Amino acid sequence: MTPATPPTRSTRATRTFVGPTVLVALAVVPVAAGVIRLAGLMTGQVPAGGMRFADDPLPVALHIAAVIPYSLLGALQFAPALRRRGWHRAVGLLLVPLGLLAALTGLWMTQVYPWPAGDGEAVYVMRLVVGAGMTFSIVRGTASVRRHDYEGHGAWMMCAYALGMGAGTQVLTHLPWFVFIGGTPDEASRAWMMGLGWAINAAVAEYFIRTRLKAETITPPQRARTARLSTT
Ligand code: HEM
Repeated sequence: MTPATPPTRSTRATRTFVGPTVLVALAVVPVAAGVIRLAGLMTGQVPAGGMRFADDPLPVALHIAAVIPYSLLGALQFAPALRRRGWHRAVGLLLVPLGLLAALTGLWMTQVYPWPAGDGEAVYVMRLVVGAGMTFSIVRGTASVRRHDYEGHGAWMMCAYALGMGAGTQVLTHLPWFVFIGGTPDEASRAWMMGLGWAINAAVAEYFIRTRLKAETITPPQRARTARLSTT
């Protein structure tokens, strides 16, 4: 059998930057949309479709102010190199309130704003589930790290980020519609495209959590062997 070769400097660099780069790329469109919406609200130039925001700008303004740093800085939390340098802890302390604000303002908007064209009961219910799930995951992730359960912390925080970043994946799930069909999607198509965005993210997070846990979990025979070795 060929002995395992240690990762080269370039392999390590790839591992460090590929994940965060993909996540930042996923955040680009929602972040840009947020900046444009915020600028419109501040200058009073709101297009007809955004009048529901202009009439009550506080929830959406707080939402955008939270989701921009949450989605960009959150992506960097997945860089292993930054995790070891104190950056992860410092930024994490900032990301907890930002993530909670993003999720809670999302729930607030779900309740107070009239539905945009194409949204219906299914999207409404999914937003409630996602907002509640993201809040719950951040609270569990914070509780885990306080107990020094770093594996649980990573899993819950990954889950929260994946749910929040449904906003990014939904850009991709809507893309074929806008390229091949165009116009405002009907309620059912919109629900499928929104739901698919969240489902893809949840599945990807689940995959990483399971494979990482699988790689790190010590099996009972391994534990017994370790115990035997430590007593000899
Ligand atoms: C953390 C990642 C998230 C990002 C990047 C993001 C981004 C945005 C942006 C840019 C807007 C403004 C849309 C516009 O101007 O038309 C928005 C609106 C909204 N977001 Fe989020 N969001 C995120 C998470 C969430 C979560 C977790 C919820 C859960 C409930 C949520 C619910 C909403 C709702 C209800 C609206 C108003 C939709 C409308 O009435 O058109 N968002 N989001």
